[in-house]
Amino acid sequence: MHLLYTYHNLLFIKTKKAEKIPLLSAIVINSVAIFVFLQKNKMKQFFFLFFSILLSTTSCENNNTKVVEENSLAISETNVEDSHSFSNISDVQTEHIHLALEINFDQKIISGIARHKISEHSTNKIIFDSKALKIEKVTLGKVPETEADFDLGVEDELLGQALTVYITPETEYVNIYYSTTDKCEALDWLPAELTSGKKEPFLYTQGQAILTRSWIPLQDSPANRITYSADIKTNRDVLVLMSASNPTTKNKSREYHFEMNQKIPSYLIALAAGDLVYTPINEICGVYSEKELADASAYEFGDLPKMIDAASNLYGPYLWEKYDIIVLPYSFPFGGMENPRLTFANPTLLTGDRSSTTVIAHELAHSWSGNLVTNSTWNDFWLNEGFTVYFENRIMEEIYGKEIADIMTTIEYQDLKASIGEIEDSSFPEDSKLKLELNERNPDEGMTDIAYVKGALFLRTLEKEVGREKLDQFLKQYFIDHAFESITTEIFTKDLEDNLLQPNNSTFNYKEWIYEPGIPKNHVEIHSVRLERMISMAKRINNDKETFTGEYLHLKRKDRITQEWLSFIRNLDKNLSADKMKKIDDQFHFSTEANAIIKSDWFKLVANTQYREVYPQMSEYLQLIGRRWLVEGIYSNLMKSSEEIDHQFARETFEKAKKNYHFVTRSTIQQIIDKQ
Ligand code: BES
Ligand code: ZN
Repeated sequence: MHLLYTYHNLLFIKTKKAEKIPLLSAIVINSVAIFVFLQKNKMKQFFFLFFSILLSTTSCENNNTKVVEENSLAISETNVEDSHSFSNISDVQTEHIHLALEINFDQKIISGIARHKISEHSTNKIIFDSKALKIEKVTLGKVPETEADFDLGVEDELLGQALTVYITPETEYVNIYYSTTDKCEALDWLPAELTSGKKEPFLYTQGQAILTRSWIPLQDSPANRITYSADIKTNRDVLVLMSASNPTTKNKSREYHFEMNQKIPSYLIALAAGDLVYTPINEICGVYSEKELADASAYEFGDLPKMIDAASNLYGPYLWEKYDIIVLPYSFPFGGMENPRLTFANPTLLTGDRSSTTVIAHELAHSWSGNLVTNSTWNDFWLNEGFTVYFENRIMEEIYGKEIADIMTTIEYQDLKASIGEIEDSSFPEDSKLKLELNERNPDEGMTDIAYVKGALFLRTLEKEVGREKLDQFLKQYFIDHAFESITTEIFTKDLEDNLLQPNNSTFNYKEWIYEPGIPKNHVEIHSVRLERMISMAKRINNDKETFTGEYLHLKRKDRITQEWLSFIRNLDKNLSADKMKKIDDQFHFSTEANAIIKSDWFKLVANTQYREVYPQMSEYLQLIGRRWLVEGIYSNLMKSSEEIDHQFARETFEKAKKNYHFVTRSTIQQIIDKQ
């Protein structure tokens, strides 16, 4: 597997700190320490009351809105357990949200009400996360609603604003009237021209990790689980879908109703709207896409029923009723996103040969690891992704056999070694621990091969230690015991000790894997003869004058699978001559390749060499594809080049391409370009 978020190119969005700390800030900061202490002594209630009074005397009033002018509020009110949320979920939680929203495609605004049904509590305020939202008013109760006081905290570049609503211990409903703005990072509004059909515009959201707060004001911590329902109205003839029960055809009234009756974390609330059709695969699964892509999509994901069977046989029944996929426009920043009941998929998965089904196996596996049992904070991200990569590989082995599954793991392992080297040399060498410390950093920085590949390697090594049967039994029980729960790494390790290691008298050193950097020595080794053959072909080309001789003379692109080509391209010399590059291209036609993954690796190499005659194809590729992992390496290599002409090309291409990118990709590439 690739390094999902190349270490050099991490987003370093830092929270803005107050430059000078006024007296009040000092009091506030000190108070936090006291607060943490008092929490244990059950005096929190009293303290918060005192704290609110203290702050309200320093706020300036504006109707019902008090804009708190103290920068340190951002720090002081950060959730104690989850540093990426302002919410006070240890006092009071949202249990259900009903969204009554209108999507206006002309103004590119979503507006309406987020109605929160909140838990029983004894507190006088509830804190929500919000980012770049316009909060019109807040009311309490059902019928009648009464207007409430609220504060909107100072904006933090990463976390947004704390929205504090003053309630009473009797409050059951908090209704937030709001609208989105053009700064809402979760939202990607595409004009009709950027869709396949070119008739209707498209909108989709990306919530993970902390972007849901930029289209819904809510307690945006994965530790809190909620059910939701929604009534959504649009001003265009589009089909609206959510990570919930979904319609299969458009509604003339342009109004849609949704229910998600299982408790999910906020980052899994998702919406997509466009000129879509539904192609069923069987009773429980199918694909939404624009009609131009319907046949290709249904073919590409045709193995889905087999995958769902394989997954359920491994770790217990599929509990989300339906599993559908939506094929999004090219700007979608990820390969896939596991929104429950409706996986969001990148159109680059439509390769025509089912060679990207591993992404679908991955997103499906999240229906257990991630969606059923969720990381409690973003420091526990490996519980989501490491388990999922392990599980994904087990599904692949079940359906396509061990040789194919081993090819995947070998590629991943090579990437992991490279990533660990980069992490060791970076400013965060501790980041190769499974349990992360991302406080005050963007949780996206945890999206590296550590969570994904080291996490999976940990489970593979554990499998070797106790045997597959015992590990499977343990995992099956783990998904039953923690179904619909958010858990920390420590809850997992307690389970591991009690239910797997102790009963089997194992002294497996899980602590080294989780709390120490690098890869422990006892890790399992994986080999693939098929990949080794590709590597030796690459080495021959690197060293020989003759590019293709002997058995390679008649080799064609179609004779090998995607991962074999990745291995080949990655082992070619970074400074291969333009002449050799052209010869390789003449034989395998990588520059006009249909598979976007092979093409990305090829262009990454092209960016390192003098083979500039294919820059027009590269530019076209960068303007079409918005999947971050596929484009960031190309931009990064271009910017690392010693020749200005490459920097110029990267900058110009990005200028043309950026309107086709989602915020997630745009901000990563902007960082890469700005670094130069
Ligand atoms: N949940 C992730 C995507 C994600 C992670 C988005 C963190 C935002 C923050 C998804 O399941 C994923 O891992 N996608 C990979 C697929 C791959 C590992 C098979 C991707 O998009 O490349
Ligand atoms: Zn994932």
